[in-house]
Amino acid sequence: MEVRVAHVRKEFDRFTALRDVSLDIRSGELIALLGPSGSGKTTLLRLIAGLERPTKGAIFFGDEDASLKTVQERNVGFVFQHYALFRHMTVAENIGFGLKVRRHNRPPDAEIRRRASELLDLVQLTGLEKRYPAQLSGGQRQRVALARALAIEPRVLLLDEPFGALDAQVRRELRRWLREIHDKTGHTTVFVTHDQEEALELADRVVVMSQGRIEQVGTADDVYDTPNSPFVFSFIGESSMLPVKVEKGEVWIADRAIGIAAPDTPDGEAVLYFRPHDIELLEGSGGCIAGTVAASRRVAGTRHVELEVGGDRQRVELEIPTSHPASEKTRIAFRPKKWKLFPAAG
Ligand SMILES: Nc1ncnc2c1ncn2[C@@H]1O[C@H](COP(=O)(O)OP(=O)(O)O)[C@@H](O)[C@H]1O
Ligand SMILES: [Mg+2]
Repeated sequence: MEVRVAHVRKEFDRFTALRDVSLDIRSGELIALLGPSGSGKTTLLRLIAGLERPTKGAIFFGDEDASLKTVQERNVGFVFQHYALFRHMTVAENIGFGLKVRRHNRPPDAEIRRRASELLDLVQLTGLEKRYPAQLSGGQRQRVALARALAIEPRVLLLDEPFGALDAQVRRELRRWLREIHDKTGHTTVFVTHDQEEALELADRVVVMSQGRIEQVGTADDVYDTPNSPFVFSFIGESSMLPVKVEKGEVWIADRAIGIAAPDTPDGEAVLYFRPHDIELLEGSGGCIAGTVAASRRVAGTRHVELEVGGDRQRVELEIPTSHPASEKTRIAFRPKKWKLFPAAG
C-alpha cells in the first residue's frame, strides 16, 4: 500500500510539532524516520496510524483520503518500544488478539490458532505459544509484538523504536532479522528510530527529520554522501566544520586561500564541512588547511586529533593514521578529499 503524506501540519495547543511535511512512501518499502528526540517522528507515525488528526494537510492510503479514518479502518499494524503485550495472555493468545476482537470477518478459532502458529514460525519462536510474556526475553517479546502486528494482515506496518529498550547486541540481531522478515512479507513499513546506524543499515530510504520538518529523504548513500543541509551533514556520520570566507569563487581562511574552489557559492561567510577521515595529509603548507595539534587521542584503529586553525584558532577534528606522530604543537597540513560548503547561518 502506498502512503502519501501531503502538506501535513500538526499543532498541539500552541506548539507546532510538524510543519508542512510531505512524504511519499512506496508500496512494499521499508522507510526509516530518523531524527533527534523531539523532531516529530512519533507524531508523524501516529498521524499515519490514525491516532492523531492533522491540523492541516491530508494522508492518503493509495488513492483514498484516509485523514479522517480510524485506526481500524486504516488497518495498520503497530509495534512500540515498550512491550505492549497482554501479560495475562499466552503468546498465541496475544498474537491472535487482533483477529479475535474483530466484529467483521472474524476468522474461526481454529483458523486464528493456525495463523498464530504460522506467524510464530515466521518470527522464529516456534514452540513458545503457551508461554506468558513474563517468561520471554525482551527480544522475544518484541518478536511476539511484531507477530501480533502482522496477524491482522495490515496494509501498513508502523514501528516506533521497537528495539529501543534492548541492549546493543540484541538490537543488531533483531535489525537483521526484521529486514529478512520484511523481504519475505513485503509489507509497507515505517520504522522510527533516533539511531542512525539502525536507520542506515535497515531502511530502503531514510527520512531525516529535525524540528518538525523533513530535512532530506534518500538512500543511506544519499544522506551520507550528499547531505543537503548542515543539519544532515552533522547529524549523519562524523563531521568537521570550519568557518571560512568565499571570495571570487575561492575559499579563504583568514588571509589564506586554501586551494578549494567554490564557483557556485555566493561571496561571503560560509562553513566548510567534511568528514574527519576523508582527508589527505600534505607536506608544506601552500594551498591547504594548516594548523597546530591541540589534542590527540588514540581511538581503536585511528588517531583523532584536534587542530587549531587560523588566527582565531578554530578547532577542527581530523582522523589520521596511528603511525603519524601527532603530538601537541605539531604542525599538520591537510586537504579534505570531499567537502561541502554551506552559507553561514543568519
Ligand atoms: N500530545 C502532545 N501534546 C503536546 N505536545 C506534544 C504531544 N505529542 C508530542 N508533542 C511534542 O511534539 C514534539 C515532537 O514529539 P515527538 O513526535 O514525540 O518527537 P520524537 O518522536 O521525534 O521524539 C515534542 O516537542 C513533543 O513534546
Ligand atoms: Mg518518538
